[in-house]
Amino acid sequence: MVINCEKNFDIKKLTSFKIGGRINEVFLPENIDEFSQILDENPDIKVFGNLSNTLISDDGYSGKIILTKNMNSIRIENNSIIADCGVKGPQLSQTACENNLAGLEFMIGFPGSVGGEVYMNASANSQAISDRLNYAICYSKNEGIMKLYNKEMEFQYRSSRCQKENLVVLQACFELEYSDRFAIQKRMNENLNFRKVHQPSLVLPNCGSIFKNPAGDSAGRLLDSVGAKNMISGGVRVWEHHANFIVNDRAGSSLDVLNLMFEMYSKVKENYGIELEPEIRFLGGNNKKENELCKILYKK
Ligand code: EPU
Repeated sequence: MVINCEKNFDIKKLTSFKIGGRINEVFLPENIDEFSQILDENPDIKVFGNLSNTLISDDGYSGKIILTKNMNSIRIENNSIIADCGVKGPQLSQTACENNLAGLEFMIGFPGSVGGEVYMNASANSQAISDRLNYAICYSKNEGIMKLYNKEMEFQYRSSRCQKENLVVLQACFELEYSDRFAIQKRMNENLNFRKVHQPSLVLPNCGSIFKNPAGDSAGRLLDSVGAKNMISGGVRVWEHHANFIVNDRAGSSLDVLNLMFEMYSKVKENYGIELEPEIRFLGGNNKKENELCKILYKK
């Protein structure tokens, strides 16, 4: 099987932050067979979805990655929708609606793709992926392809068994309810409007929430209270309407973002003794200063 693989791949335009250098090798599988073959042959390869939750170093990455953007098959079976990991949140939501299926309206504004959203149990407005997932088809280094039902996924706030055991989500099945298409569309519109008001649009390059909410508190509130909305680093700054977003409106660098994250993290630690945990992923390794910051922010 010849699988699409690109060398020295310029990734910047594909990231929602509009930041990032070149990746040594990028694999672009189109189906589960190709995907698992790549994983079998490259045990340490990293997997990325729509890059809406990832900061990539301007100095690039010297290893191999998989991008799921060509894994986009989606089908309906009775009241279930089965989507490959590369399907994007809005497409999933819209397809469900067109088939009179309710339950995924909250995903209409999610910039990520199904794989990443299941992996991290994405959520908004008190609704989470875990509310609707029936099962996920995952890949494990030791056991190969496995089917995990909702209970076996060990979902919690922004986490799942996939993170703990390094499982890759290949496909997911969501169980929905039949409902009126116009009522579903109305709820989707409401969710989109909410998002437009509360979060920077992708026209303003950003990466969603930067830090996870600490137990019982809100990263946005903590950051706001320490003056984060006035923080600027090179070409990036904290968004003036929500202190847990960074926007890249003046062609900032990956180091600008990490420096700003460190300032945000340090101020909250200094004032509250709370060490915020990044929600966004980082891919890099070739820049000494970035590596030092990541050691503190990511504790590794
Ligand atoms: N707040 C402030 N100042 C700020 C920002 C927020 O005081 O600058 C306060 C708000 O007033 C509110 C509380 O903090 O009382 C929580 O803020 P918000 O309602 O905006 O929700 P959030 O916890 O910051 C979470 C998710 C979002 C999701 C929204 C809506 C996390 C880290 N973020 O935000 O997810 O869309 O709820 O449900 O859990 C994402 O993951 O990328 C993301 C955007």
